[in-house]
Amino acid sequence: MRQIESIREMQEWSAGQRLAGKRLALVPTMGYLHEGHLSLVDEARRRADLVAMSIFVNPTQFGPNEDFEKYPRDLPRDRALAESRGVDVLFVPAAAEMYPPGDQTAVTVAQLSRGLCGAFRPGHFRGVATVVAKLFLIAQPHVAVFGEKDYQQLKILQRMVRDLHMPVEVVGLPTLREKEGLAMSSRNAYLSEAERMEALNISRAIAAARDAAQSGERRTAALRERALAVLAEGKNTVVQYLEIVDAGTLEPAEVLDRPARLILAVYLNGKRLIDNGPL
Ligand code: PAJ
Repeated sequence: MRQIESIREMQEWSAGQRLAGKRLALVPTMGYLHEGHLSLVDEARRRADLVAMSIFVNPTQFGPNEDFEKYPRDLPRDRALAESRGVDVLFVPAAAEMYPPGDQTAVTVAQLSRGLCGAFRPGHFRGVATVVAKLFLIAQPHVAVFGEKDYQQLKILQRMVRDLHMPVEVVGLPTLREKEGLAMSSRNAYLSEAERMEALNISRAIAAARDAAQSGERRTAALRERALAVLAEGKNTVVQYLEIVDAGTLEPAEVLDRPARLILAVYLNGKRLIDNGPL
C-alpha cells in the first residue's frame, strides 16, 4: 500500500491510473477505522480496479464547541487495517494543503442540509460537502463509497454530484452494527461500558418503530412515540431530535405511504450519537 500526503502527487497517481484504463474507487474517512469503514473498502474493491482511502479529520465540519481536538486518531493502526483489507493508496493530506490560506470557496447543498443534524450543527454539511468535493477533484474516482450510518450526509453528497455534474457514482451501504445492535462508529470510543449498554436503546428504538410499522401502524406520530418510549428508559439519554422523513427528500412524513427513514441524534452523558433505519 502506498501512502500519499501531497495533493499534487495524489492527482498525478489518479490521472496516470485513469490513463492506463483503470477504474478507481475512493473511500473517504476521518480514520480511527472500524469494520463499518472496512465494509466500504470491500465494496469499493468489488466495483473498481484500484481503491484509494482518504483519512482526514476535516476541521471545517466541526463546530467551535465540538470534538475536533478530541476526535480519536491512530494512523499506524489505521494504516495496518487499510493495508490488510487491500487498500492500494492511503491519502493522508495536511489541513494546510487542503485549505490554502485565504480560501473563499465552499459547497452548499441548501435544502437537504437544513433539517435533522443540519439544524443542530450549523455549517457542518457545508464542511462535509466542501471537503468531499475537494477529495473528488484530487482522487478523481469513478465511484465513491459511503455509509448509510450518516444518511443525511449520503443524500447531500448524492445531490451534490448530481447538481454539479461530477462524474462520480456515489454508492451508499447499510450500517454495520455490533452484535447487540449498536451502530459502529469511531465515536463509540468515547463510551464507557455502562454507556455502551444504554446506547443499545438506540437501535432498539428504531427496531420498535419498524416492528410497529410492520404490524400495520401507518401514522408516523405513533411510530415516533414508540421509539421515544424506548429511549426514555435510558436515564442518561437526552434526545436531540427523532424524526421520520421521506427517504429521498428528507422532508417530514406524516404517514408511511412511501419509503421513509427514522433518523435520530441523542446525547448520552453529553456524548452525541446518531443512527437511522428504514421504515
Ligand atoms: P467517518 O465518520 O470516518 O465515516 C467515513 C465513512 O464510513 C462514511 O461514509 C460513513 O457513513 C461510513 N460509516 C461510518 N460508520 C459506519 C457503519 N457503522 N457502517 C457502515 N458505514 C459506516 O463520514 C465521515 O467520516 C466524514 O464526514 C467524511 C465523509 C469522511 C468527510 O469528512
